[in-house]
Amino acid sequence: MSTLIQNGIIVTASDTFEADLLVQGEQIVAIGTGLHEDGAEIINAEGCYIFPGGVDPHTHLDMPFGGTVTADDFESGTIAAAFGGTTTIIDFCLTEKKKPIKDAIQTWHEKSKGRAAIDYSFHLMIGEATEEVLAQLPSVINEEGISSFKVFMAYKNVFQADDATLFHTLKKAKELGVLVMVHAENGDVIDYLTKEALANGQTEPIYHALTRPVEVEGEATGRACQLTALADSQLYVVHVSCEEAVRKIEEARRAGADIWGETCPQYLTLDIDDLRKPEFEGAKYVWSPPLREKSHQDVLWNALRTGALQTIGSDQCSFHFKGQKTLGVEDFTKIPNGGPMIEDRMSILYSEGVAEERITLNQFVDVTSTRASKLFGLYPKKGTIAIGSDADLVIFDPFAVRTISSDTHHMKVDYSAFEGKQVKGVVRTVLSKGKVIIQDQAYKGNAGDGQYIKRAKYNEQLRNQIYVEHV
Ligand code: URP
Ligand code: ZN
Ligand code: ZN
Repeated sequence: MSTLIQNGIIVTASDTFEADLLVQGEQIVAIGTGLHEDGAEIINAEGCYIFPGGVDPHTHLDMPFGGTVTADDFESGTIAAAFGGTTTIIDFCLTEKKKPIKDAIQTWHEKSKGRAAIDYSFHLMIGEATEEVLAQLPSVINEEGISSFKVFMAYKNVFQADDATLFHTLKKAKELGVLVMVHAENGDVIDYLTKEALANGQTEPIYHALTRPVEVEGEATGRACQLTALADSQLYVVHVSCEEAVRKIEEARRAGADIWGETCPQYLTLDIDDLRKPEFEGAKYVWSPPLREKSHQDVLWNALRTGALQTIGSDQCSFHFKGQKTLGVEDFTKIPNGGPMIEDRMSILYSEGVAEERITLNQFVDVTSTRASKLFGLYPKKGTIAIGSDADLVIFDPFAVRTISSDTHHMKVDYSAFEGKQVKGVVRTVLSKGKVIIQDQAYKGNAGDGQYIKRAKYNEQLRNQIYVEHV
């Protein structure tokens, strides 16, 4: 089966050009002008951009957290992702201390197999770097194709690992050729500050932000960077929210450390005042790290522009307002952390980034797709438009506008953090491995179209491309 996409403007991380694009089976087989193929299905993309499908390196689907389970699972979450132009996700596989890692990975396969609309892969959480755990890692990499490990420096008594675990993981990652990811906040200090706040009767959502100040993120980011340099390893800092953390990453990279950073749409566009909304609405804006003062947004946009930060993750971790966020009505520490973002990740980046001239069109592709693909062992199968790459393609109308609302979004959650926001640019058609899965705002795919992807190891050649292009 062939598909010929005509008259569109192809946009990659490096180029923008008018051309036709021929897809055969699951892959792109030709790019050029005046292409013709007998019997091909024709898609007219006139007036539209054609982007590589988005690669979202940070999702939590069907994840138990905060005394509940995320509202979106691998079916609803990946359909919503597809509506937003994302065609690959990497989800976090949680492990439990003292339990075999293979069991955790099996659990994640059971959650996702036969359910996903788009391709997906897993990162693996390391909670405790015992000899037993470290010994299992080579097979995790070689048999499961999991080439990134995640260490939480926060969520005391839940996910938080100590510095010994972070350091052991960094050393092992270097030896095995994979990337370590960190949630960088100082969990012990947060624990102190939250207990103090509750003792003072400070229970409203805003205290979530006030007990996780920028210093705790800056300190943990700096510590993770230093330990990475000491281990001569490689690090990716997830959901960077503030200037203090950006500066630590910049400083470490300037000193020669191999460190990458991700931010998220919420930190670029929402701010701490959202947590002050009345009637407990502030709970909708509880993320960790928390939303910051508005002044941090310019720093983050600038970091994306200069290459101080490389990627945009959604940190999709959705909970209903009614019945889930409301678990914390009397105590902000009981509000499940996270929000619905998988569907609007690319929209927000295009509308607030490209249309507002904060980043270029090519940078948009780079931060929403190409760099994540390069860092996480998916390139050039994913993250670009090239002959031989998977035909994961987004046909995007830059002139259309839409209004974000929970009434029309496809995430299985009862609110949107962007309710009523008008965004420029609309996803018209999405192809996943050559198959049209979104057309005219309708889902045309099937659960199970998306397959588990084994990823390659951390690749120094691809890493160097990112350095050369953007720093
Ligand atoms: O608040 C957040 N970020 N929830 C998801 C879990 C995490 O820390 O990434
Ligand atoms: Zn996190
Ligand atoms: Zn997360």
